[in-house]
Amino acid sequence: MTSDSETLDPATSAQDDPTLNPDGAPPVGPEQPAPAPAAPDGAPAAVRHDFEDGTRLDLTIAGQSYPVFLLDKPAEILAEFLAASSTLAPGNIALICDENTSELFGLRYEADFIKNGFTVVVLTVPAGETTKSWDVAGQLVTALSNSGVGRADCIVALGGGMISDLSGFVATVYERGLDLCLLPTTLLALVDAAVGGKVAVNRDEAKNLAGAFKQPRAIAADLSVLKSLTEVEYRSGLAELVKTAILSGEDFLAFLEDHVDELRARDAVVLREAVVRAMCFKAQIVADDPYDKGLRACLNYGHTIGHALEQVSDYTIPHGLGVAEGMRFAARLSVQLYGASPEFVLRQDALLDALGLAALEVSDYRMSDLKDAMQRDKKNGAGEIRFVLVREPGVVGTAPVDTPVLFSHLRAWMGIKTYTPPEPPAEPEQEAAAPADETSTEPEPNIQAPAGKRSDEQPPVGRDDPARLARSKDQPGASPVEPKQEAAAPAEQDPA
Ligand SMILES: NC(=O)c1ccc[n+]([C@@H]2O[C@H](COP(=O)([O-])OP(=O)(O)OC[C@H]3O[C@@H](n4cnc5c(N)ncnc54)[C@H](O)[C@@H]3O)[C@@H](O)[C@H]2O)c1
Repeated sequence: MTSDSETLDPATSAQDDPTLNPDGAPPVGPEQPAPAPAAPDGAPAAVRHDFEDGTRLDLTIAGQSYPVFLLDKPAEILAEFLAASSTLAPGNIALICDENTSELFGLRYEADFIKNGFTVVVLTVPAGETTKSWDVAGQLVTALSNSGVGRADCIVALGGGMISDLSGFVATVYERGLDLCLLPTTLLALVDAAVGGKVAVNRDEAKNLAGAFKQPRAIAADLSVLKSLTEVEYRSGLAELVKTAILSGEDFLAFLEDHVDELRARDAVVLREAVVRAMCFKAQIVADDPYDKGLRACLNYGHTIGHALEQVSDYTIPHGLGVAEGMRFAARLSVQLYGASPEFVLRQDALLDALGLAALEVSDYRMSDLKDAMQRDKKNGAGEIRFVLVREPGVVGTAPVDTPVLFSHLRAWMGIKTYTPPEPPAEPEQEAAAPADETSTEPEPNIQAPAGKRSDEQPPVGRDDPARLARSKDQPGASPVEPKQEAAAPAEQDPA
């Protein structure tokens, strides 16, 4: 991947930089040498493959090295790793899961830890993004304390990105920091959330508003767990895979295009290669910029709109589906602002469509709500909204986007036609009000809204549309944290 160092400078604004203007001139400037795409056979130093078959990677990020095991029986492997490599006394694992991962894998994995001499405290929280909150983090802190978990113990996150972000956040604050290990169980967590050390909880104001950097001691996953993902959650992971491939460059993108059928069928061999490629690519980017000061921003391709969609839908739109839609939007913006070709937009659309990531119906949402959510996003500086732009696979930059340009694209995307005054009526009549955000007189950009968008002139529906809310899976309510203490079986061997 290459990136424009100018456009990755947070101090640069569209006004300052005449190359980032609405007239379509691509930014010119020195392109940084790409971190080598970390394919299995060419892994750079921050990423090592010990095994040729992609069952173990060794990552070095922010000065910390740790293994990623992609093997059967991940909890047993993790238990053996912890027992062999640390002073961790047997009996001290806090296994944090959501109600689905608890039911699917909790008992089995807990037994694997117990078999290796650990005592396991299982803490179960409700499934769904609304659980990734300050409140639930606080309840977990209390539950850990009530369960006697101490500084020398280890938190193990069993679940998708929601669980790894939440558990990681708790692991940074509880008693000023505990060890963290990850047992990722979604495709999205494997290809993205588990790698890189970002942990966070959401606040009402914005997603991931409170967070930290926390590298795990180890990651272990059995890729067969992906079989039980719902189609929606699986596709959500495919979206992050497409994002990674587009950032990585032609080789990875072509790999996905060549294996669409296998990916849709969750073919084990193709999935392993895709996961390893994605993990290696992300690890290399993060190793070069562990604290998100520059290059790492490119990983937010599709996220400016994606996070806003998650928020305005009350998190009924899963993260990956929001990102897929955000990539459709950002690619169109890239044509106008960054010299991307229309063919690139069509190519990305075609891959998303082929993977079952159809364009979302977004005309229900209010443009002002989306804009507010984007402005509150922690990645944006005061008063500006930044987008990651892609000129072609592997060539990436970021830029703040001026309000008129943004609104003109939002209108096209949301199927809102520019207000045109009606013909003068015979009798004086009251004019229809323009949509609230139509402050710009910019012409529509010559970019098609994604297929499937409504192009009629119906006004946006309010946030309480019952059809949309009915899609919610989250059931906030009953006590979200359920601690369960299991005694360790007598240790058969000394794991110390
Ligand atoms: N820290 C990072 O760098 C980073 C990167 C990307 C995304 N994220 C975060 O990750 C989160 C999204 O992650 P996600 O998509 O994994 O969501 P998730 O963790 O909410 O999981 C999605 C759903 O799948 C269920 N599930 C998990 N594993 C399963 C399995 N094997 N079989 C069946 N069901 C299973 C969960 O219970 C949940 O209902 C968001 O909060 C996002 O912000 C973080």
